[in-house]
Amino acid sequence: MKPHEKNLFLQKKYNLTAAFYDFLDYPWERQYRKWRPALIGDLRGKILEAGVGTGRNLPFYHQDVELVAIELNRKMLERARKRQAQARCKITLINEDATIMSSIGSNQFDWVLSTFMCCVMPDDIQALAIEQFGRILKPGGRFRLLEIIYSQDRRIRKKQELFARFVEKIYGARFDRHTRHHIEQSSNLRITGTTFLKEDTYLLIEGVRI
Ligand SMILES: C[S@@+](CC[C@H](N)C(=O)[O-])C[C@H]1O[C@@H](n2cnc3c(N)ncnc32)[C@H](O)[C@@H]1O
Repeated sequence: MKPHEKNLFLQKKYNLTAAFYDFLDYPWERQYRKWRPALIGDLRGKILEAGVGTGRNLPFYHQDVELVAIELNRKMLERARKRQAQARCKITLINEDATIMSSIGSNQFDWVLSTFMCCVMPDDIQALAIEQFGRILKPGGRFRLLEIIYSQDRRIRKKQELFARFVEKIYGARFDRHTRHHIEQSSNLRITGTTFLKEDTYLLIEGVRI
C-alpha cells in the first residue's frame, strides 16, 4: 500500500470509530485526563496539535495560546469542534493530514504537541509526519509527543498483547511503532528527553527543532 492509501485506510477506520471513540476510550481516558493538564498547561505561543481527535486536550491550553489543531478525519474533527467550547484559547481547527500539512506554512510554530497520533501511523507514514514537524516548527521550537509502546516487563506485555488486536482494529494503534527512531533520523529535530508516564509503556518524547 502507498502512503496515501494507508492514510485513506486510517481515515475510513475513523469514520466508523468516531461515533464511539469517547465511549470506547473511556477506560483509558480516566487515566489520560489526569495527565493532560500537565502535558498541555505549560505550553505557550503558537502551537500545532496534530491528530486532535475528539479534542480531549483542548480544555487545557492556556488562554494566551494560539492553537492550530489538525485532524485527518472529518467526523473526529466535528467532535473536537463541539469540545472547542470548553477551551480558553484561540483555536483554528483544520481537516488536514499531518504527513502533508499543505495548508501550514514553514518555520512558524513554537510547539508541536501530539498525543497518541504517531502510534496509529504505519512507520513509513509516521516518518513523513515527523518531517513535517521539523518543517513547521521555528528553529528553537519544541515538540512533545505521547506514545504507547510495548513494555519490557513480561507481565505487562502479556496484558498489552491481550488488547493489541482490539487497539489496532479500533484505533489503528500499535505498541511497536518506532517514533523515537524516526525522530532520531530527522535532520532537524533533536530529542531532549524521554519520560515514562506509567510503567515503561506511556512514553513522552520531548525535543527541539535545531
Ligand atoms: C488515537 S487518536 C488520539 C486522539 C487525541 N490526540 C487524543 O489524545 O485523544 C489518533 C488521532 O490521530 C488522527 N490521525 C491519524 N493519522 C493522522 C494524520 N495523518 N493526520 C492527522 N491526524 C491523524 C486520527 O484520525 C485520530 O483522530
